Order: sequence, then structure tokens, then C-alpha cells
Amino acid sequence: PSFWTVIPAAGIGSRMRADRPKQYLPLGGRTILEHTLDCFLGHPRLKGLAVSLAADDPYWPQLPCAGDGRILRAAGGSERADSVFNALQLLAGQGADASDWVLVHDAARPNLARADLERLLAELADDPVGGLLAVPARDTLKRADADGRVRQTVDRSVVWLAYTPQMFRLGALRQALGDALAAGVAITDESSAMEWAGQAPRLVEGRADNLKITRPEDLEWLARRWAGD
Ligand code: CTP
Ligand code: MG
Repeated sequence: PSFWTVIPAAGIGSRMRADRPKQYLPLGGRTILEHTLDCFLGHPRLKGLAVSLAADDPYWPQLPCAGDGRILRAAGGSERADSVFNALQLLAGQGADASDWVLVHDAARPNLARADLERLLAELADDPVGGLLAVPARDTLKRADADGRVRQTVDRSVVWLAYTPQMFRLGALRQALGDALAAGVAITDESSAMEWAGQAPRLVEGRADNLKITRPEDLEWLARRWAGD
């Protein structure tokens, strides 16, 4: 099978409270999205890459990579799952096979280590379902009530944080996402769609610093690290 990449980049970044969607904020002299694309472009195993963009996105055309013929442009949707689904449809129309693998990676995760990407590809190559990079919970976990009072300490050993890339077969993922969207189920990553379809995706331990830029302090932290590298 071939390997394809989907980068959903059609969000507005409301929690970032910046003057533009967070994927277009600068990090070390370039935009976050350019760093993210660099993690995949030119990788010898990956056949093609689709990026989902908002219809009226004024920032993308200004990037040098907007003219890169290797990048397919898919339509963003109202939720992340819609953006990913649109990109899967586009890849299918470009000749991708149902049994091909698709790696879905958030535009807002510019710090994916090559070693993590390689481990994901290697560990899932023969997997019947696929899976995702994930990080074991480190802190003691509390379940709270609506008043913000601790009601229970949760067993940390069974809790993981879901990261990306998430890697599934194109046909199975398209079916699961399409069905979940049609059913109105809340889906924030590909694994949840596959779980909803009755599958048990495999966890592949990754580095915690492949964090998703969500709030201003995430970018401040990464910018400091980037400057120190
Ligand atoms: N995303 C997308 N289409 C959407 C919503 C999100 O392609 N309709 C993308 C974002 O651009 C981001 C990734 O999905 O790369 C992860 O989503 P998230 O971190 O939630 O980004 P935003 O939705 O942009 O941020 P927020 O939820 O704070 O508004
Ligand atoms: Mg969001």
C-alpha cells in the first residue's frame, strides 16, 4: 500500500486569541504550518499530501509552499472531522486506494520528531487497524464534580493523551468519519471515529513535545525551545 498525509489547517484558533489562525503565526522565522508541512514533504515513504484550508483563507497564498506542486488543497469544513473527511475524498479522487494508509496530522503540531514519525510507520505497518502517537499521562489525575471539587483519583496507568499523526486505512477511516459525521457524533480525532466504528486503535508512545499549539503559552514555550536549539 501507499502512504498519504492529510494536514487539517482550516481552524480559526479561537483559544489562541491571536490576530490570525494559529497555523499562520510565526515560529523561528516561518509559520507554524510551514514547519508542520516540512515534517512530511520529501519523506521517501509518503506518496502525496493534502492540506485542508478554509475557503477564504488569505494567508495560504502568501506562503512560498502555496506553489508547491506536491501539495493538494482540500476544502476545510465546519469541524476538524469535516476538514479531514474532505481531504480523504480528494485523495480517493487522486487515485489513492481504500487499502492505502493515511497519516492525519494537526497543522498546529510543528514539532513532530522524525524518529516519532518513523516509529509510527514501523510499528503500524502490519497492524490490522492502525493507531496513533500518544503520550502516557504523567500527572496524578483527578475526576471533578461541577463545583470543581475532587471526587476521585483516576488510575493514571490506563490514561494516554492522544497526539498525531494518527494512521489508518483510507477506506476504513473515510467510512468511520463519514458515518460518525452523519450520526452527529462529536469527533475530535480520527481514533474516536474508529473507536465509534468498533475498532481498537493501537497506541504508539511518542514524545510529549509534539504538542498541539492550543493556547498562547504553548507557542511561547515552543518558541523558547526553538530559539535554544
Ligand atoms: N481544524 C480544521 N478544520 C476545522 C477545525 C480545526 O482543519 N474546522 C484543524 C486546525 O487548523 C488544527 C487542527 O484541526 O490544525 C486541530 O484543531 P484545534 O487545535 O482545535 O484548532 P482550532 O480549531 O483552529 O482552534 P480552536 O479550537 O481553539 O478554535
Ligand atoms: Mg478546534
